[in-house]
Amino acid sequence: MQKLKEEIGVVLAPLVEMEEKLVLDLLEVPPEPDYGDIAFPCFTLAKKMKKSPAAIAEDLGNKLAGKQGLYWKNTEPRGPYLNFYIAPETYSTEVLKKVWEEQDKFGHTNLGEGANVTIDYSSPNIAKPFGVGHIRSTVIGHSLYLIFRALGYNSIGINHLGDWGTQFGKLIVAFKLWGEESKLKDDPVDYLYRLYVKFHQEADDKPELDDDARSWFKKLESGDKEAVSYWEHFKRLSLEAYAEIYDRLGIGFEHYHGESHYNQMLDQVVNLVQEKGIAKESEGALIIELEPYNLPPVMLRKKDGATLYITRDLAAAIYRKETFNFARSLYVVGAEQTLHFQQLFKLLELLGFTWAANCVHVPFGMIRFKEGRMSTRAGKIVLLEEVLDRAVEMARAIIEEKNPDLQDKDGAAEAVGLGAVRFGDLSNDRVKNIEFDWEKVLDFSGETAAYIQYAHARICSIIRKAGPDLLSWDDKVIALLEKEEEITLIKTLAMLPEKIIDSAESLKPSILARYLIDVAREFNRFYHNCPVLTSDPEIKKARLLLINATRQILTNGLSLLGIVAPEEM
Ligand code: ARG
Repeated sequence: MQKLKEEIGVVLAPLVEMEEKLVLDLLEVPPEPDYGDIAFPCFTLAKKMKKSPAAIAEDLGNKLAGKQGLYWKNTEPRGPYLNFYIAPETYSTEVLKKVWEEQDKFGHTNLGEGANVTIDYSSPNIAKPFGVGHIRSTVIGHSLYLIFRALGYNSIGINHLGDWGTQFGKLIVAFKLWGEESKLKDDPVDYLYRLYVKFHQEADDKPELDDDARSWFKKLESGDKEAVSYWEHFKRLSLEAYAEIYDRLGIGFEHYHGESHYNQMLDQVVNLVQEKGIAKESEGALIIELEPYNLPPVMLRKKDGATLYITRDLAAAIYRKETFNFARSLYVVGAEQTLHFQQLFKLLELLGFTWAANCVHVPFGMIRFKEGRMSTRAGKIVLLEEVLDRAVEMARAIIEEKNPDLQDKDGAAEAVGLGAVRFGDLSNDRVKNIEFDWEKVLDFSGETAAYIQYAHARICSIIRKAGPDLLSWDDKVIALLEKEEEITLIKTLAMLPEKIIDSAESLKPSILARYLIDVAREFNRFYHNCPVLTSDPEIKKARLLLINATRQILTNGLSLLGIVAPEEM
């Protein structure tokens, strides 16, 4: 809790002859409650004072012996640390009152002061299925989008669609040869992918198909009417299909500027590179050596004049800076593109753009589905839509069994199913590969969204039973919350704001996800030992305030992961 820390800063600063701000930065939350609630590590001081950290802690302990503050009741030196213990009553009142007053804004701050952060995420390739590879980008990117927004940044979501490239020549050829408009309309993403696969199969024996495809892509690049109208048609239908998925996931983008958007800027970018003299021509191709930086060379233009993925990314980066003047520009893209982004950022730097330092690749590992039973329409590729459907179906079966009388089973199943997919991804450190295990992500007592959602629904049910009238702010009852489980729960609730900040700084929503598991776990421990409805009226009132704050923390946290918490499930 910030106020506690600030108070400690004021007390310690004169004693250690440091600025308050520096003291604050040093304060830690100890790993075990036995070690106090806030610890001041004395290592940094040891050098300055030429004394051992333990001796300094001891000395500070002596100076503060018998003293207390508003939010802390005593201190205790322990090894190289000086530990502070909270004063439960004032501390709890402060925390619970703040949650009560700020409601769904609790944990939100204005750290970002409205600065723009562009977040390039999801970014599927048109005419290829929206596969699970793009799930991770979609889910992680969206959560970062929400987290930065909660911290007062202006998040700008950009869907950098793969809507340009030689595959469109292939698709046009395939569609002209074998395509049927009605099938295309029926399920465009799947159908285009099938055509794409068929093209590759046929082209194995008939290499002339590849030549046709190249010439159709050339036509497309030079603005040929027929080619452009096919391309637009494919793109429009695919976008409509994506829109359904995004709607279902509650995701919207500020911009759908796909790769094609940058076509008209490519000449300019190539000129800029040439003016800077960092490129060399090699048989008509334009190449930039990055050997001094231990990176392989980049090709910006092929000898037939065609541009590449990285050419468009270079244009896009400059466009984003000029258009949004971002404070940071995030690219939520799989770890397999790490080299691409290293090259891209190095190019920007060589072009003299100091803001290259504010461009960040946010990589993530692969996702694999544990069992093979998941047969899919598109063959080997697992489609996001099918993953979502399956998760919702399984959630529904579980809910049906656990709570057969539930009114809105569909709503609950949708929330639990989508939550399982999102949390199954977000609760893992993003850089790791994940194995998606259906049983595990839907386990109501595991480390899952359902576990958190269930705690939330339980709280809602207790509040309903108590009658909402009983739930009202009352300073006087808070002091009655003195059991260990109650205090621990309150301390855990108080951490939400820091956890949101940590998630943003490390670009890891997993920090927030893991924290919410802790909250749900502490709630369950509390509820197991401290009855709410059957307690004395005053204690009941206090506990209702406590569980209501818990409910608020769970909803606020889950919502930043893009997960809905139903009131009943
Ligand atoms: N469409 C690309 C892919 O699926 C991802 C694009 C990521 N964004 C970017 N600016 N390169 O591999």
